Amino acid sequence: MVVSELERIVSKIDIENDPPADEPERQYYFIARAKAMIGDSKPTACIKTFGCQMNARDSEKLTGILKCVGYEILPEEDEETADFIIYNTCTVRENANLKVYGRLGKLGHIKKSRPQMMIAMCGCMMQEPEVVDKIRKSYGFVDIIFGTHNIFELPELLAKRLEEKACVYDIWEGTDKIVEELPSERKFSFKSGVNIMFGCNNFCSYCIVPYVRGRERSRKPEDIIEEIRNLADDGVKEVMLLGQNVNSYGKGLDEPVSFAELLRKVAEVDGIERIRFMTSHPKDLSDELIKAMAELPKVCDHLHLPLQSGSSRVLKEMNRHYTKEGYMELVDKLRTAIPEIALTTDIIVGFPGETEEDFLETMDVVNRVEYDSAFTFIYSKRTGTPAAKMEDQIPEDVIKDRFDRLLALVQEKATVKNKALEGRTLPVLVESINPQDPGLVSGRLENNSMVHFPGDATLIGSIVEVKLSEAKGFYYIGDRV
Ligand code: 5AD
Ligand code: SF4
Repeated sequence: MVVSELERIVSKIDIENDPPADEPERQYYFIARAKAMIGDSKPTACIKTFGCQMNARDSEKLTGILKCVGYEILPEEDEETADFIIYNTCTVRENANLKVYGRLGKLGHIKKSRPQMMIAMCGCMMQEPEVVDKIRKSYGFVDIIFGTHNIFELPELLAKRLEEKACVYDIWEGTDKIVEELPSERKFSFKSGVNIMFGCNNFCSYCIVPYVRGRERSRKPEDIIEEIRNLADDGVKEVMLLGQNVNSYGKGLDEPVSFAELLRKVAEVDGIERIRFMTSHPKDLSDELIKAMAELPKVCDHLHLPLQSGSSRVLKEMNRHYTKEGYMELVDKLRTAIPEIALTTDIIVGFPGETEEDFLETMDVVNRVEYDSAFTFIYSKRTGTPAAKMEDQIPEDVIKDRFDRLLALVQEKATVKNKALEGRTLPVLVESINPQDPGLVSGRLENNSMVHFPGDATLIGSIVEVKLSEAKGFYYIGDRV
């Protein structure tokens, strides 16, 4: 739902009545209450997002809610001047947490001189009881804390904070609820993330996500399609279907639907020209999906397929349910069905017990697959996960050495891949004016690579044919044809 539509609904709500019990009407009511509290003061808000695409999408929903309440939204850089600051946090690796504590400390100092400033914390870190304890003990100036399962409750929590002037904490351990029909404000006018499912059931042994995002829940296909139709009517050309493991979409629904079937339905929506999705787990990548990707021209020839490790032994310890050979077979199948497909991946270095031989298996896969790009991560020990208790945690210097070797190989392969498209003319979805050179615009190829070429703001949001004149490692310089 767009903000203006909800504003119309909210303007008719009588806040003298008791709050409705049902969602989302209850939150609409609290938007009206919060709106009445802030009156004409036109406060500013800033949402700082850490982590993945899921958090980015959640932040768009938070933005929509705050706009409806009457906040002016400031860019992320302006956090220190805002009246209301929300940190939407990530906890997948420890350094993400450390970053948040550092910034929070700084905000505490600012709040001393501007006591009316409000601070809210939400996202994955808040689903860890130790984190909430620490914030309550050491950062007592935080006004509102909520988790990943109840972001839709922001209006209620905000109204409570404004009315009672006391700190508000509400974190749910889990949920089977999906609340539809809250407003959201997109960061880009022409592309949007669309949640198709929430949570994860895989319990990879290193990963904290299943503990903080809860069990897998799929949205109904008709709700997803309706959202995408509305987005298309609003000018969106590209959608990114989001889930921790999109390949297992639809399993718990009353009428189960496969992800491939969902893709076919999405491809039927007029106005949508590009479809992406994230993330795919190799263990659930079906032939049916590969066929759908090959047959549907709107589905981008790009797949993000996390490898994590190239060693079958480590993969077993990681609880990934595939082997090196199984992964390589998938890559062969994909390349046979979709010869131009760009493959990207995630790799973890230094999982407990990883030997030099194990690491060389990972290097071997990178060598053979020739990824277009790869996110490489140093293993981070997450309390509560099975891997945190494993013996044989790898020393830092060994990890660092492996990480550097892996990064060098990833970059070498990506450069070769990137060079291979030089001279080709391909469609580019224009995203913005180039921040370094206002004479250029920047956009993305189907494979997600950036292209910079001469153009102006009128091109933003359109798909144009661009000749890739020069490959620059990770991006291209081009010319419109
Ligand atoms: N340490 C390092 N990387 C991790 N990831 C998830 N958990 C950890 C961890 N404990 C990486 C995986 C995943 C990506 C989103 O983050 O590669 O695919
Ligand atoms: Fe974490 Fe594995 Fe689930 Fe991805 S599939 S979110 S790595 S547990």
